[in-house]
Amino acid sequence: MTNQTLERPETLDPSLPGRFADGSAHAMFANLRREAPVHWCADSQFGPFWSVSRYDDIVAIEAQPALFSSEAKHGGVSIIDINPAEASYLESFIMMDPPRHAQKRRTIAPAFTPSEMTRLTGSIRTRTAACLDALPRGEVFDWEERVSIPLTIDMLAILFDFPWDERENLRIWSDAITSLDMIANRPQERVGLLFQMAGRFHQLWQERLAAEPAPDLLSMMIHSQSFGEMDAAEFMGNMATLIVGGNDTTRNSMSGLAEALTLWPGQWDRLRADPSLIANAASEIIRWQSPALHMRRTAIEDVEFKGHRIRKGDKLVLWYVSANREERLFPDGELFLVDRPNARRHLSFGYGIHRCVGARLAELQLQVLIEEMLRRDIRLEAAGPVERAAHPFLAIVNAVPVRIG
Ligand code: HEM
Repeated sequence: MTNQTLERPETLDPSLPGRFADGSAHAMFANLRREAPVHWCADSQFGPFWSVSRYDDIVAIEAQPALFSSEAKHGGVSIIDINPAEASYLESFIMMDPPRHAQKRRTIAPAFTPSEMTRLTGSIRTRTAACLDALPRGEVFDWEERVSIPLTIDMLAILFDFPWDERENLRIWSDAITSLDMIANRPQERVGLLFQMAGRFHQLWQERLAAEPAPDLLSMMIHSQSFGEMDAAEFMGNMATLIVGGNDTTRNSMSGLAEALTLWPGQWDRLRADPSLIANAASEIIRWQSPALHMRRTAIEDVEFKGHRIRKGDKLVLWYVSANREERLFPDGELFLVDRPNARRHLSFGYGIHRCVGARLAELQLQVLIEEMLRRDIRLEAAGPVERAAHPFLAIVNAVPVRIG
């Protein structure tokens, strides 16, 4: 591991994917927050970009969507520019600015109200309990493979009312959308998978359109007025957003939870002694893990920001992973503390008009997981190094080897 504190801001490239695999990004961001909170990187594998690493600055930018755009035509919401060909068949409201955005978001939002969450709690609990009961005791297993992946894929299948025995495809498509390796080295294979996804969802679209409206997300979208007029590209884009939004992020939070509990077993004792901390612990893991490492915006005109001249078309990368450990707000931010008083202030769900629409669902899944683990006193011990992907956008965990102690 390189010593990031020795890197000079003038030559620093915060986006080097390896930093996110070996965890060295945290020391680098502490340095950036102190030395260069609005930092220009002139050259990287993702092109030139600004890094915004302080909490208040990120909030200030997200609060001005008219100036700092999410639109696909400007490159979208990740440091990895959306390629124009892809934008033509993946148009989603996460990559839309006002006024189009609000109209679309309003259709999805009813699927995530508190009453919908209450309706879903029973099935989340049943699946979580069955998953935990099937885990081996005293043997090494991969938490990612046995818990995080199946729980989040099943959840998506329930949300969409996706054919149950085909749900493994949701994982394959989700991985294809985000995989850096596929984007760079296997574009044909990736496009093939995206078309497969498009084909299957198109069939489902036709079926649900012909059927009576139902409470699943697909039917809700198809029968709504604002989405009713959407074309195939927009439909696919929304599916892709929901699959990645609902899958990778929650999956990686669940894996982060297992890792944190093996690193700080005292926090498990704390939760056992006081289960009223469970909801806070779920927020704390989302803060600590920062499942979406950043979101990106593009300046749509020249603007002065914190003494820097941002030019029209410049890419701004808003590093949540940094803001979530900002010393002023989150002292000892590298620690996982189930009773951290302001854990809920994390920026992992973003801020402003695009703030995560699925936040309640993600929190609910984590809370139920912790509750059911507590009920069984599933105390995790590390059984090998956690494997992370070298990815600058999502905190992707590949394996968490553990043993139930
Ligand atoms: C821990 C889990 C999650 C994290 C960390 C997360 C993170 C985020 C973030 C940072 C944004 C803001 C994007 C922006 O500002 O450009 C976002 C938006 C979104 N998320 Fe999540 N998400 C999570 C879970 C979910 C779930 C479970 C779903 C749905 C099943 C979901 C669906 C969405 C959608 C549809 C948007 C777009 C909202 C909009 O543009 O108005 N997310 N998410």
